[in-house]
Amino acid sequence: MTPYDAVSETPPRAPLADSLGRKVTYLRLSVTDRCDLRCVYCMAERMVFLPKREVLSLEELDRVTSAFVSLGVRKLRLTGGEPLVRKGIMDLINGLSRHLRSGALDEIALTTNGTQLAQFAEGLAAAGVRRVNVSMDSLNPATFARLTRGGDLTQVQAGMDAAVAAGLKVKVNAVALAHDNAAEIPALIQWAHARGFDITLIEAMPMGEIEADRTDQFLSLAAVREELASYWTLEDLPLNTGGPARYVRVAETGGRLGFITPLSHNFCEGCNRVRVTCTGTLHTCLGQDDATDLRAVLRSGASDKELVSAIRDGVWAKPHGHDFRIARGAAPAVARHMSVTGG
Ligand code: 5AD
Ligand code: SF4
Repeated sequence: MTPYDAVSETPPRAPLADSLGRKVTYLRLSVTDRCDLRCVYCMAERMVFLPKREVLSLEELDRVTSAFVSLGVRKLRLTGGEPLVRKGIMDLINGLSRHLRSGALDEIALTTNGTQLAQFAEGLAAAGVRRVNVSMDSLNPATFARLTRGGDLTQVQAGMDAAVAAGLKVKVNAVALAHDNAAEIPALIQWAHARGFDITLIEAMPMGEIEADRTDQFLSLAAVREELASYWTLEDLPLNTGGPARYVRVAETGGRLGFITPLSHNFCEGCNRVRVTCTGTLHTCLGQDDATDLRAVLRSGASDKELVSAIRDGVWAKPHGHDFRIARGAAPAVARHMSVTGG
């Protein structure tokens, strides 16, 4: 029995919510665990990717997403891995764009590494995508290539140019790393703001086994912020997207700067989001191992009603919060990689 069975008069479109009263209006969907890069904090050098049968088909991705939309999800973000390496990705997005046209969805956004953006920008814009988040951790081509294990910085920057030309709003994501890019964080911010891009700094999160010890990579954004504030004026912005990011305006550049600090800040009270992995597992918290296997539901021949009910049950049990910690030599807080869950 679900918590909803008890109130049978609950309208079918009652908003998706958890047992703590948090409304879930934002779905992040990973469409593939694959990626053409191998960022050192994200993946092991030799990643074993999932067999195809384990990954949801385009039809299954559409069906599960549409079920969330029918439950009141208003914002969809496609992630990966790298979403643009998924075969048929534009078919998926073009199909899902019907929910934009119907008014059921406010937004379809994309988180991408930017390598394929030059080819896809026009098509994304035509499908109604308005915003892309592009990961770029360094402005130095050699550092970028080392961090991504082979990525081409100029290709990614050309992707951002193409996105702008297509009318997409670009936000830069940069993971703050103690040794690799700490010194160039101000330059990254200036680079983004000079182009009118927002930029968000992200603390490295302990997700999935990688070669490096994350205590060596970890850079506290509290310390970064303090340093930036010693020469820039950081004005707190009220903007709250229901996620872990907190924003400031840098008075000197006029641009917006976000901090995602899962380890040094708690943001769970206002959390409005859930994730579905490319294997159809619903995770209601990035930092917990709670999981609902929606693929099993999909592949059991379940009706839409049963699918919706499984989603409601999974979301209802959303944990109150995470307990990420980075301890030297410790196992990751969650075993799955970000590339499976979606960032
Ligand atoms: N910790 C923090 N950020 C990560 N990303 C990938 N793996 C991790 C991790 N372990 C970032 C990517 C991208 C965003 C979606 O998540 O660099 O910018
Ligand atoms: Fe690929 Fe993004 Fe992971 Fe880098 S962080 S390896 S670009 S999925």
